[in-house]
Amino acid sequence: MRILFIGDVVGRPGRQAVREYLRRIKSDQSYDLVIANGENAAGGIGLTPQVANELLDAGVNVLTTGNHVWARRELSDHLQQDDRVLRPLNFPEGAPGAGVTLVTARNGRLVGVINLMGRVFMEPILDCPFRAAAAEAGRLRERTPVVLVDFHAEATSEKQAMGWWLDGRVTAVLGTHTHVQTADERVLPGGTAYITDVGMTGPVDSVIGFDRERILRRFTTQLPAAFQVAGGPVAVAAVELEVDPETGAALSIRRLAGPV
Ligand SMILES: [Fe+2]
Ligand SMILES: [Fe+2]
Repeated sequence: MRILFIGDVVGRPGRQAVREYLRRIKSDQSYDLVIANGENAAGGIGLTPQVANELLDAGVNVLTTGNHVWARRELSDHLQQDDRVLRPLNFPEGAPGAGVTLVTARNGRLVGVINLMGRVFMEPILDCPFRAAAAEAGRLRERTPVVLVDFHAEATSEKQAMGWWLDGRVTAVLGTHTHVQTADERVLPGGTAYITDVGMTGPVDSVIGFDRERILRRFTTQLPAAFQVAGGPVAVAAVELEVDPETGAALSIRRLAGPV
C-alpha cells in the first residue's frame, strides 16, 4: 500500500498548494492514505476547525499537529469531536483530544497514526515521548501492523533516537517541525521508514514559511515582530511510503519536494 505524508502546511498558500497538488497527482487514486501536519495551517500558527475541514475536504485523511496545537482556542473542542485531527500524544493527562487514531485506508486496511512531540529545546513538561510511543505502538499493533508516527521535534538527535527506538515496532517515524526537508530518508534495518524532517509545504522565499523582512528585523534588532506568512512561490514537501500491509514493514520511502 502507498501512503503520502505532507510536511507542515503553512497558511493559506500551503493549503492551496496541498489542494492543487493532491488534485494534480490524483491522490485518491494513487495513495491509500494521505496524512498532513497542519499545525501551521491557520495563518501560520495553529489550526482552526474550518481550516482542518478545508484540508480534509482536499483529500487529507488525517491531520497531525505539534507545539502550535493550542494556538486557536476553538480547536480544543473540535479535537474532541473529530478523531481525524490529532494533538501530540504526550501532553500531560487532561489535555483535550487524542494523540492517536485508527483509520481505514482506501485499500480497506486499518492504519494507526501516532502524533508525538519532542522535549529537547521544546516543552520540558511533556511526558516522555519514547515511553508514550512504545506503549501506544504496542496497543495499536494488536489491531493493525501498519502504524505511522509523526514526531514533531526540534533536535535532530532526539528524532534519530526515536527512529532507532521504534525501529521494527512501527511502519514509519517521520519528523516534522523544523520546516526544512532533510536528505536522510531510509528504511532502518528493522523495517521502519525514517526521515529527520519531511519539510514544509508553503512559501519558498521565506524563513520557514514566514515573511523574511519581519524575521530579519527580529534577528537583527531583537525587537518583537509578529510573524506573517510569506507570499510568492510555494512548494510542497512530502514523503511517499510503500508499505507491506501484511507485516507493516516499510518497503521504501521517497522524498517529494518541489513547486506546485
Ligand atoms: Fe511547523
Ligand atoms: Fe512546530
